[in-house]
Amino acid sequence: MMKSTVKASSDIALIKYWGKKDEVLRLPENGSISMILSGLDTVTTVEFNEKLTKDEVIIQGESEEGEAGRVIKHLDRIRVLAGKHIFAKVVSQNTFPKGTGLSSSGSGFAALTISATKAIGLEFNEKELSILARQGSGTACRCVCGGIVEWKDGETSEESYSETIYPSDYLDIRDVVAVVDEGKKLVSSTAGHATANTSPFYVVRLENIKNKIEKVRMVIKEKDFDELGALVESEALEFHSILLTSQPSMIAWYPGTVEVMLAVQAMRREGIKAYFTINTGFNVHVLTTPDFESEVNKRLNQLSLVIKTITAKIGGKPIEQNNHLF
Ligand code: PMV
Repeated sequence: MMKSTVKASSDIALIKYWGKKDEVLRLPENGSISMILSGLDTVTTVEFNEKLTKDEVIIQGESEEGEAGRVIKHLDRIRVLAGKHIFAKVVSQNTFPKGTGLSSSGSGFAALTISATKAIGLEFNEKELSILARQGSGTACRCVCGGIVEWKDGETSEESYSETIYPSDYLDIRDVVAVVDEGKKLVSSTAGHATANTSPFYVVRLENIKNKIEKVRMVIKEKDFDELGALVESEALEFHSILLTSQPSMIAWYPGTVEVMLAVQAMRREGIKAYFTINTGFNVHVLTTPDFESEVNKRLNQLSLVIKTITAKIGGKPIEQNNHLF
């Protein structure tokens, strides 16, 4: 049967991927490090079927033109690699809101890459899957791996892929995501990557980024949560300073985003271990330890602009499932 279902998790970048040196191949300007988030998952079923006369793409119960186009482009890459010209039906479900800066394209294209290659009969190893997933969505090249993941920038397509640097049980970090809005984000990462170099601070960022990646690797190795949290929070603020100073400028934050950021810093003054990071959306990832998870969760839910929280921990590699979505 040419059908496969895969569950892949989203991730949160500790060091952000921002800017591309090759738009078509999606080669990033800089390397990045993330942790895979079990609890923010996408399940995708792909079936290649001779009877279909076109591709059918259903995401969260809807067939959306724009996103379907990107999925079909990815199916085309896979059909070329397999040398088979068969249409597919793709059904995908997230356990979390998409398009809000929680990296649904990462888990989505990771699940799609693995399920579609399996369904069409390609046997790819993790490196090959990562290279292929990267061409659908940059962050997806990290989401085909598990645990704490590093994506090397690479000079060519063959060199730009991700690997697990620490397994999911090396460190127990919790991510309490404060959801402050469930609508679509205003800042498009595709547009943002393209204008990153219009910020006068972007060159400074690139000059220091290798050093920063090295430091993050070291503090993870030493299991130093406070040092890691401090680095991650300052990286998020540096990243947003690039967004703010790009042309046109990009303000991703909503009032609720700022409320959470201030609350996290106030919690730290009371001795609670909590550090924030934010991608191009308005929802805030708050990293904490198992000891403080319930307190952080409680306090975030008490904030006036927080709608709800979603908790995640470091997750593993994507897995194949027997229960298909259709
Ligand atoms: O994969 P994209 O194009 O959505 O880029 C996302 C980049 C950030 O989320 C802002 C950072 C990252 O590394 O995940």
